[in-house]
Order: sequence, then structure tokens, then C-alpha cells
Amino acid sequence: MGQVHVLNHPMIQHKLSYIRDKNTGTKEFRALVQEVSMLMVYEITRDLPLMETEVETPVAVAKTKVIAGKTLAIVPVLRAGLGMVEGILNLIPAAKVGHIGLYRDPETLKPVEYYCKLPPNVADREVIVVDPMLATGGSAAAALTAVKERGAREPKLMCLVGVPEGIRTVQQEHPDVDIYVAAIDDHLNDHGYIVPGLGDAGDRLFGTK
Ligand code: PRP
Ligand code: URA
Repeated sequence: MGQVHVLNHPMIQHKLSYIRDKNTGTKEFRALVQEVSMLMVYEITRDLPLMETEVETPVAVAKTKVIAGKTLAIVPVLRAGLGMVEGILNLIPAAKVGHIGLYRDPETLKPVEYYCKLPPNVADREVIVVDPMLATGGSAAAALTAVKERGAREPKLMCLVGVPEGIRTVQQEHPDVDIYVAAIDDHLNDHGYIVPGLGDAGDRLFGTK
């Protein structure tokens, strides 16, 4: 069974508080989401495999280590996942970026896929699906299905805020997937919003409300 990791680093928790604040404007909200995303990926990638190499310093040859294997692929779920990409690329500039377009049908709250484009060789890459919100879990589960159908093996899921309902859905549909969140909130309201959450992540990132 995949594990649920709550990333409790004080910097992540501190910034998340400002992200949640309804008085935080679009510009600051955007910047904070990027910063937290970078910090979360820093934590998530601490177990990446390394391989030995040698570099010539100005003084001598040093036996050192570099990350083994193909570069990471991050896959934001459109739209709100886009708000996390730049922060992650600040940390891992060579990461490839795929995109999955999903929207929640406002009546059924079920995800509908409208776009999917992934980097080549996803089977050989560490794939991290990113979306700020894990609410019913429908979008995340559908995104994970989409990347797996295209070859991703053991993708990870990274969200800022989740709720137990959404975590359960992902675990039921994708028992192999590790889930990383900065917080697990209390519940979903009747409109499918996380309580207390941070509101509509896409609208707050893009100023569309
Ligand atoms: C939000 C969010 C997730 C989804 C989570 O996107 O970014 O993708 O809802 O909800 P779920 O867990 O119940 O599926 P939304 O559908 O509002 O689209 P947007 O990113 O375009 O704003
Ligand atoms: N999507 C959001 O943007 N916010 C929520 O609270 C739930 C789903």
C-alpha cells in the first residue's frame, strides 16, 4: 500500500498559513504556492537514487555522486497544478513537464479529461503528479490513471491540501501510489470544497473570480 506523507517542515507549514488566508492577494498567493511546491519536492526527492562519478576540481579528482537515471517528470493537473510548476523547476531545472487537463463537472463533481501530453519515456522516469487540492480525489485518481495508461510506473501524487475522503479514493484506486500533502484538512462541504482549505485554488492563482 502506498503511504501518505504529511510534509511538516516548518517552512512549508508557515507558508501554507499565508496561502490559506483569504486576504492574501493573487500575486502573493502565486508566489507562495511556487515556494511551497519547491520545498515539497525537495522533501519528496530525498530518496532519489544516486550514482558514483568523478569530477576534476581545481585541486584533484573528487569521487562524487549525481542523480542516477532519467530526469524527473512533473505532471501538473490543469489548471491549478500549473501554479506549482515553476517552483519545482527552480529546484530541478532539467525536469520534464507533462500536462493533464481535467475539470470537475459542476453537477456530478466527476473529472472529465480534455488534454494529456506527457514527456517521452515516462516508464523510465520518476513521475510526480501535482495539483494543489485533493478534494473528492476524483481528479487525482483520474490523472494517475492517465499517466499509468501511458507507461508511468509508481507515480507519486503531491498536493498542498488533502482531506481523508480524497486520500481514501486515491488509495482505493491506486494502492501503489505514495501521496504527499502539506496538510490533511477536516472535510468536504456540500460543494466539494475542502474545509477549511484555501478556497478555489485555480481562481486564486489566476484571478478568475
Ligand atoms: C480543482 C483542483 C483539482 C480538483 C480537486 O480543480 O485543482 O484538480 O479541483 O477536486 P477533486 O479532488 O474533487 O477532483 P478544478 O476542477 O476546480 O479546475 P481548475 O484547476 O481549472 O480550477
Ligand atoms: N478544488 C479547489 O480548488 N478547492 C477545493 O477546496 C476543492 C477543489
